Amino acid sequence: MKNKSIYILAIESSCDDTSVAVLYNDKVLSNVVAGQKIHSQYGGVVPELASRAHQQNIVPTVHEALKQANVDKKELRAIAFTKGPGLLGSLLVGTSFAKSMALALNIPLISVNHMQAHILAHFIDDEKQHKPSFPFLCLTISGGHTQIVLVKDYFSMEIIGQTIDDAVGEAFDKSAKILGLPYPGGPFIDKYSQLGNPKSFEFPHPKTKDPLDFSFSGLKTAILYFIRDREKENEDFVKNNLNDICASIQYTITLILMEKLKIAVKETGITNIAIAGGVSANSGIRKALGDAKINYGWHTYIPKFEYTTDNAAMIGIAGYYKFLNKNFENISISAKARLKF
Ligand code: KG4
Ligand code: ZN
Repeated sequence: MKNKSIYILAIESSCDDTSVAVLYNDKVLSNVVAGQKIHSQYGGVVPELASRAHQQNIVPTVHEALKQANVDKKELRAIAFTKGPGLLGSLLVGTSFAKSMALALNIPLISVNHMQAHILAHFIDDEKQHKPSFPFLCLTISGGHTQIVLVKDYFSMEIIGQTIDDAVGEAFDKSAKILGLPYPGGPFIDKYSQLGNPKSFEFPHPKTKDPLDFSFSGLKTAILYFIRDREKENEDFVKNNLNDICASIQYTITLILMEKLKIAVKETGITNIAIAGGVSANSGIRKALGDAKINYGWHTYIPKFEYTTDNAAMIGIAGYYKFLNKNFENISISAKARLKF
């Protein structure tokens, strides 16, 4: 069943990164990401500007990915693209381009679910990374999603817990905004945390009806009121305590995530644990998972840094497994802003 020498070109355009990758089977030959700086001045992604920037970036990014991979477009065997979930205007650019390219080259078209792809990034062939064995639990944490997924097979996945309000990435980004940090604030909170004391300030842990669900909107409000009250006493409070505030926020979020994972392990009996998505770049969360490996004997899987935030290599690996199953799309396929597994 295993085809040799398959080159796949993959396109990711679900939010504000235009990314194109070329894979040789399950190996990544190139993974080019064109980010969009324009959104930082607005404190969040502006959908209209994102789709325009994708339009500008898509052709040069495809060229660059082929060039870096040293592959000619005529050698490609399939085009994979993100069908959803994401911003519709952004998804439409990648979807339309993928369709046109597949049609022009007369090769199969493969649609990929963005959230599944974050998880499947663990199966990219890399000598430094171990691939998870099935079944495993994946904590998928990004700017739009927070899920605990029971992964039974490459495309057999079940969400067993998820956020009932904000995603964890939003919790990072909104907290950062309150602190006056640029968008997206997650990486800034991570950076300042390195120099702070995580036990300086205490923030509440939310309660949810289903113990596997998450809730982050209360944490954001608690941080807002905490800063407002402290600034009444000292207007330089944030400036003088930035490292400690960031470290305390990161520590709280990490503890919440780890508590939920522990419940999921207890409920399922599964101790193969992976993390995925943009927030899995966070150093505190990565360390906590490393500690859990030692303390609880879990088998843990932490993705390579470049496969955490949005990238097309993850779309390519998902595309590769779909190619093996000959799971191809008709040219009439359309993008979907909301897309379940
Ligand atoms: O997966 P992703 O690139 O896009 C979505 O599919 O949403 O995730 C983006 C999110 C943003 O909220 C960003 O702040 C967060 O990932 N993020 C981080 C870190 N790097 C990215 N959050 C905390 N610490 C980081 N180091
Ligand atoms: Zn993502």
